[in-house]
Amino acid sequence: MGKTYKIAVLPGDGTGPEVVREGLKVLNAAASVYNFSLDTTEFDFGGDRYLKTGEVLPESAPEELEQFDAIYLGAIGHPDVKPGILEKGILLKLRFELDQYINLRPVRLYPGIETPLKDKGPEEIDYVVVRENTGGIYTGTGGISMKDTPQEVAVQSMVYNRFQVERCLRYAFEYAKTRGKKALGKGDENTLGLVGKTNVLTYVFDLWERAFHQIGESDYPDIRRDYYHVDATCMWMVKNPEWFDVLVTSNMFGDIITDLGAMTQGGMGIAAGGNINPEGVSMFEPIGGSAPKYTGKNLINPLAAIAAGSMLLDTLGETKASFAVEEAIKHVTGTKIKSLQAGKMGYSTSEVGDLVAEALE
Ligand code: IPM
Ligand code: MN
Repeated sequence: MGKTYKIAVLPGDGTGPEVVREGLKVLNAAASVYNFSLDTTEFDFGGDRYLKTGEVLPESAPEELEQFDAIYLGAIGHPDVKPGILEKGILLKLRFELDQYINLRPVRLYPGIETPLKDKGPEEIDYVVVRENTGGIYTGTGGISMKDTPQEVAVQSMVYNRFQVERCLRYAFEYAKTRGKKALGKGDENTLGLVGKTNVLTYVFDLWERAFHQIGESDYPDIRRDYYHVDATCMWMVKNPEWFDVLVTSNMFGDIITDLGAMTQGGMGIAAGGNINPEGVSMFEPIGGSAPKYTGKNLINPLAAIAAGSMLLDTLGETKASFAVEEAIKHVTGTKIKSLQAGKMGYSTSEVGDLVAEALE
């Protein structure tokens, strides 16, 4: 009998529960092929619970969740709750409290999927963004003074200390070393590109850039280092995505460029992310949101959640199973489903889950 992993499941709002159900179907199929098992515990955090109880997240939640090997999240966001409350109170709160300081977001075009990028295919669109996940503008440092007067001032600061920047960069260098294009046999170099704005944010990105080169030079001399301004990055993500291997960037920039990246990989129906604490418990999610209008219709695309599940397996150390799930997704996108869009897949949500699970066996 293989290992048993304790997984906290947070289905959340909207279509979250439907996609998580398919994700777990696939993860359990992988578990039986690769001889491990998942012991899941469900938590009802989300909009419905908040509307019923007035509580966004129980105070004990972070501590409870720390007892698990990983967290699997569906979606947060409810049409009857003012935007920001659940996102800040659940998603961002857990990222911060559990110190998930990395947000790992692969930008990978799977076979058979249409990209809006002309003449680009799975060979060209295949890189990973390492987004710093607990610092920068997201710390909420700032405030408003002279509110409701013509002189009102609002400040929101981009805050980074050396410690935060270094640990994120070290994670990114390690990732490039073990999962860069050379490491995976897809190229002759492992490359880490820093995405910043050194020409304007001359304090914060000066810190990032110095730390980047110092760490790279002393500890990762074999990894090629590139630097891109964030605006130019958007340009190259559209024009020459094949230049990229592993990118590392600040929280806000990472948030923005990964939505662009998601569109180039076929849209929010396929984009997955991991909120990672390399020393603690990590949380995996499809990045598409709760898609309220599709709730309960069995039409939403579960592939992003399934891909997030593959990332979860990787973090547990079930690398083979993780790759197998990814291969199974590719099989389904390449030979089965017609479109990634909800309602246009040619299959229902649960049928897509079945197809991926069957491809594993
Ligand atoms: C994301 C989301 C979140 C973020 C929101 C919902 C707070 O956009 O995970 O990218 O900004 O990080
Ligand atoms: Mn985002």
